[in-house]
Amino acid sequence: MFCSYERRRRHADHLEKGKLALRICRTLTVHATVEQEIFYPAVAAVLDAEAADLLGQANIEHGGIEGLVSKVEDTPADDPLFDSMIEVLATYVARHVTMEEEKIFSWVRHSRLDLLGTGERLVARRLELSTARLGRQLVRQARKVMGRKRSPG
Ligand SMILES: [Fe+2]
Repeated sequence: MFCSYERRRRHADHLEKGKLALRICRTLTVHATVEQEIFYPAVAAVLDAEAADLLGQANIEHGGIEGLVSKVEDTPADDPLFDSMIEVLATYVARHVTMEEEKIFSWVRHSRLDLLGTGERLVARRLELSTARLGRQLVRQARKVMGRKRSPG
């Protein structure tokens, strides 16, 4: 998704950029929600000191990503800093994904975590969140991001 944004950003109008950005934000929000509701507690249940540090780090990174997502959702897509916000978000996310893949997932593979059961719960919750109707707040945010920035005066 970040690649699509990067490819399209110079030629896309604010509506297309807004749509791409909101899709990124929604995906990241679903990712963080399912991990924090299901995956991290499952890891915490079979925790050792190394995993505790990793989960702490992952939670801090989720917080940073959520902060940037909120900022994007609160900024019109024709704002001069919009592309930079998406770029910084992409950098944060790439770092976070690398940490999860190289550290947490590799730790989990050798733990007594119920991988199959946890994976099934993650997939089910992700599907539920991805297909849920958009709430009023999300619709308002979408209008803000897609709408043109008001000119001063
Ligand atoms: Fe994550």
